[in-house]
Amino acid sequence: MTPPDEPKRPFKPRPPRAGGTRSPRPDGPRPPWKPRPGGAPRPGPGGPRDTSWQKASGWYDKSVGEEGNFYHQTVVIPGLLRLLRLGETERVKLLDLACGQGVLARSLPATVEYWGVDLSQDLLASARKLDQKSTHRYVHGDACGELPFAETAFSHAACMLALQNVESPERLMRNAAARLVPGGRFVMALNHPCFRIPKQTSWVRDDVNRIQYRRVDRYLSRQRIAIRTNPSMGGASPETWTFHAPLSDLFAWLHAAGLFVDGLEEWVSNKRSAGPAALMENRARAEFPLFLGLSAVKR
Ligand SMILES: C[S@@+](CC[C@H](N)C(=O)[O-])C[C@H]1O[C@@H](n2cnc3c(N)ncnc32)[C@H](O)[C@@H]1O
Repeated sequence: MTPPDEPKRPFKPRPPRAGGTRSPRPDGPRPPWKPRPGGAPRPGPGGPRDTSWQKASGWYDKSVGEEGNFYHQTVVIPGLLRLLRLGETERVKLLDLACGQGVLARSLPATVEYWGVDLSQDLLASARKLDQKSTHRYVHGDACGELPFAETAFSHAACMLALQNVESPERLMRNAAARLVPGGRFVMALNHPCFRIPKQTSWVRDDVNRIQYRRVDRYLSRQRIAIRTNPSMGGASPETWTFHAPLSDLFAWLHAAGLFVDGLEEWVSNKRSAGPAALMENRARAEFPLFLGLSAVKR
């Protein structure tokens, strides 16, 4: 689930905290969110942490549809395909980690051999219904655990809008690297970790100076953020998890997995505003990328 990119609220300075402002975090390694061993959902203080979107699958399947949602279609899939550089490989075999209902598979050239992995059975069922190509397979499994098939020698691996929905992204990267051929390419599309963190970033309007800017409340700390997919249902709404990590962690994990970044793109929203605030809203959209695309090669 991605937070909307529309203006949210007018700026109101917060009153100072009781006891003074929080002191800055000292330099040094960031405390992790304690990834679970083996990748299996485990009970935690707030109950089991199952990162699958099974409970939200009906909503997500509908919002993505056959061709992808607005951002899939206009920004993310075209960007991911550009980074994948499929045309440079004679026989493309692609592993899609956390594939959801398979929207990436349906955007690939017909000759690509494809394996998609996801934790949600219902999203996989939808993927199989929408895509019956004999060279495409959809497998139930944990992208951060032991993959439930032996297939290897992939020329490409991808993780589209899902790295921030798994609890152990470093394991997902290691899985991608382990299944790639040397020289194989892993690409990711993420919500931009600097500008688009659920509940921690927002648009703010400064009507005096007529600018809209991006407010970032927290960035360096790793965060685990619960998102209600249907806020009107209150506590009964299905929840999904977002795991935020700063850029430095992403690069350290890629490096540790033997994956060397050779491409980075920052993608802005291509929505357009109309009305009296259009100028400042459109200018802000063009300045602050909402998505990050990364490409890394296995050495
Ligand atoms: C935002 S959806 C993205 C799905 C798809 N890539 C797309 O762009 O539509 C996140 C997906 O991650 C899957 N997921 C979460 N944790 C997972 C894990 N550990 N292993 C495999 N899939 C996982 C969810 O079930 C969900 O389908």
